[in-house]
Amino acid sequence: MADSHLSPLTSLEGRDPYGAYEDYRESGPVIWDESMQAWLVASYDLCRFVMEREDLFPPKNPNNPTFVKVRGGPRNVVIRQGDEHRATHILLLRLLSPKVSNQYREKYIREVVGGVIERFVNKGHAELGWDFAHALVIRSFLAVCGLDWRDDALAQKVYDLHMPIVAWIEGGAKGEGEAAMAAADEIRDFIMPIIEARKEGAGDDLISRMWREGPEIIRDFTAEDVYANVRELFLAGTDTTAIAIANAVYRLVKDADTRQALIEGGPDKIATFVEEVLRLYGAVQFRFRSARTDQELGGRHIRAGDTVIVINAAANRDPARFACPAHLDLNRQRARQHLAFNAGPRTCVGAALARVELIEAVTQILERTRNLRFDPAGEPPAFGNLLLRSHEPLNVLFDQA
Ligand code: HEM
Repeated sequence: MADSHLSPLTSLEGRDPYGAYEDYRESGPVIWDESMQAWLVASYDLCRFVMEREDLFPPKNPNNPTFVKVRGGPRNVVIRQGDEHRATHILLLRLLSPKVSNQYREKYIREVVGGVIERFVNKGHAELGWDFAHALVIRSFLAVCGLDWRDDALAQKVYDLHMPIVAWIEGGAKGEGEAAMAAADEIRDFIMPIIEARKEGAGDDLISRMWREGPEIIRDFTAEDVYANVRELFLAGTDTTAIAIANAVYRLVKDADTRQALIEGGPDKIATFVEEVLRLYGAVQFRFRSARTDQELGGRHIRAGDTVIVINAAANRDPARFACPAHLDLNRQRARQHLAFNAGPRTCVGAALARVELIEAVTQILERTRNLRFDPAGEPPAFGNLLLRSHEPLNVLFDQA
């Protein structure tokens, strides 16, 4: 194929991918990648087009019953199609709207972030990837679900059960997935009684609100809808948000000038910083779609059934869309137009919640620490992995503010 001079996508694992993404865009912006047996899309306009046109490019999910089971069953928003998907998507957007997410921020997330920082702030050193970013995201989700976020054993159990499922999905969702199935059974045994107990829909937590608002939007709404979608919100929202927070913290540690500008600029600048970090580093580098029919895309002939990989992280540094794309610009106009949360009918339903967690995390790190710097004695961060990428570990030293 004519695209064989370009770095295969799989060869970018564990190394900075942005030079290769630029090559893809300049040579394409649609190119064939042997390593993934897929078309790669690397420009902003075409990534957006593919994401918005689900009629032409439907999502590509593994055709495997274990995949449905470990995601909580067929009523999960990611599994649902057509009108049923639309209804579930609208329900979740409503349950995690900017207004509701701000209420969760005031009620729980501020306290969770403060509580997590409290655990290490006296020590003057920390690993802010696991001990801060991941710790606060898992606990925020427990809090939003009306569970005890201070219960470390619960947080650990939830994460331990999540891991085999993530490992199986990231490994290509192949075979029976025994460990993932066993973890899914255990999660179900744990969470179903809690879901049933909230059936009256009386509380302000996510589960009660899903019971209350679900039947207005979804036909024949049952505990299976609540279960499948609470499971999906945890799966889709935990590692992604933790990774985005780790990337934001990485930039704070590395860039003292930006730190100072944020302290002086306050909430508006912090909000723009968060968008710029999402644009520059993303959390989810790319997504999978398939072509419904034979069609042209970016001058290439795509056949029905071909896999198409939309590289959102490449779109987010497209100079045709973003001036000085590699530069973190706290004055960037329309900074939210990046594709870190996708676009179109499958756009992220948790974007508002992720944003408040990111903003609260950045705000409190700035408030509670001074002279933040990498620990020369600790392992330095690397922009690891391939699909979900973060700069970790984050071994830092600091003075208490
Ligand atoms: C910075 C953090 C996050 C990033 C970068 C992110 C990114 C994304 C992306 C790219 C998609 C599209 C997937 C696709 O179409 O193939 C998506 C979908 C989704 N996200 Fe997020 N996400 C984040 C946080 C969250 C949170 C906090 C939640 C929930 C609590 C969440 C729940 C979902 C769900 C349920 C979907 C599927 C929507 C559908 O299929 O209709 N995400 N997210």
